[in-house]
Amino acid sequence: MEPSRILLAVGGGIAAYKVPELVRALIAQGHSVRCVLTEAAAQFVSPLVLQALTGEAVRRALLDVSEEGEIDHIRLADQSDLVLVAPATADLMARMAHGLANDLVSAVLLATQAPVLVAPAMNVNMWNHPATQLNLELLRERGVLRVGPDAGELACGWEGLGRMAEPAAIVAAANRALSSGSMSDQRVLVTAGGTTEPIDTVRGITNRSSGKMGFAVAAEAARRGAEVVLIAGATSLPTPEAVRRIDVGTALEMRAAVLEELECASVVVKAAAVADFRPREAADRKIKKESLESDAISLELVRNPDILQEVCQRKGTRIVVGFAAESHDVIEAARRKIRRKGCDLLVANDVSRADSGFSADSNAVLLITPDGAVEDVSLRHKTEVASHILDRVEKIRGERNA
Ligand code: PMT
Repeated sequence: MEPSRILLAVGGGIAAYKVPELVRALIAQGHSVRCVLTEAAAQFVSPLVLQALTGEAVRRALLDVSEEGEIDHIRLADQSDLVLVAPATADLMARMAHGLANDLVSAVLLATQAPVLVAPAMNVNMWNHPATQLNLELLRERGVLRVGPDAGELACGWEGLGRMAEPAAIVAAANRALSSGSMSDQRVLVTAGGTTEPIDTVRGITNRSSGKMGFAVAAEAARRGAEVVLIAGATSLPTPEAVRRIDVGTALEMRAAVLEELECASVVVKAAAVADFRPREAADRKIKKESLESDAISLELVRNPDILQEVCQRKGTRIVVGFAAESHDVIEAARRKIRRKGCDLLVANDVSRADSGFSADSNAVLLITPDGAVEDVSLRHKTEVASHILDRVEKIRGERNA
């Protein structure tokens, strides 16, 4: 990663206490950092600390003769490779969205031609407010990049979306924005691995998915500059670089994680092997063989929700890629599946072969579109299959934007 000049615009929120850590992490990557603060931000983080860490004067006044004399706000805007807004408060994003320039930070944001990355942080109700969501949409349409917010316990005592992303995630997003990869404006949600549906505390129903296919897609999307969240079922694979990973066990947990992350995603790739059924009840301790009255045991299975179908029902402008594990009549079954589920692309693999599908390092797939057209991607390593799938995703995005 080439060292770059980052202008860090700090908004006035409690999350500003993480800014010194963020500055240090950016400098550790070789970037030079200069800070501009709103008046409110200076209440939450000491300008002196930021000046000491960056070795650069910290500015907060727009029309201050001595400050403007040293470097005026237009030069601040011009001399940056990236403007990073952290924390981006609801108020600051509203001012960005509506082109206000009544303080130094908003004036710089209006004047800059550099990419802008925001790391929002606020109360969950402020985040969910239609005004904030509309402002975010305006910013997104103008190409403003975003990292977070994360869900969790908030400083105000509420729980939910609104925590500023961790400094490491912000640094990764800044590096992606600076690397201008072909997917650097995309947020990709990938599911991988198999779900496990418990029978009792030690036994469960699962499948042979290793997670390799989904992890390859996540790694390739990150390599292309996308912000990637990977929701992983049972797997022993290490997390790919620059990917945020959420581990889940059951299909219901996977569904909850997918729906939680869906809002931020512009692309969804569902490579996970989700169990279609789960035991109606799981015993809360190990079932002992001796306690059974006969040698047979019956399990009543109930249907799990179809996560892919639910995602497709809320698709909006997202591109959704589904997978299909088929053992026979692959093309016809996959064509029926894409119609039923409603995704933009279906990756069908023949799982009756030993060299593709479950657990293998390679895969042979058919890429099927809603009109029934088929592209044959012959046997190759799963990393190459992942690359092929993302080429198609980028093509669909390009056609939509044209
Ligand atoms: O993990 P690997 O060992 O690398 O193996 C890769 C793979 C074979 C698991 C992968 O390539 C694959 O085919 N994944 C999908 C497996 C599957 O569940 O297929 P399906 O035909 O049953 O489901 C179709 C689609 O609906 C899938 O995108 C699946 O994620 C989704 N689904 C299924 C059931 C359900 N309840 N919810 C879902 O979202």
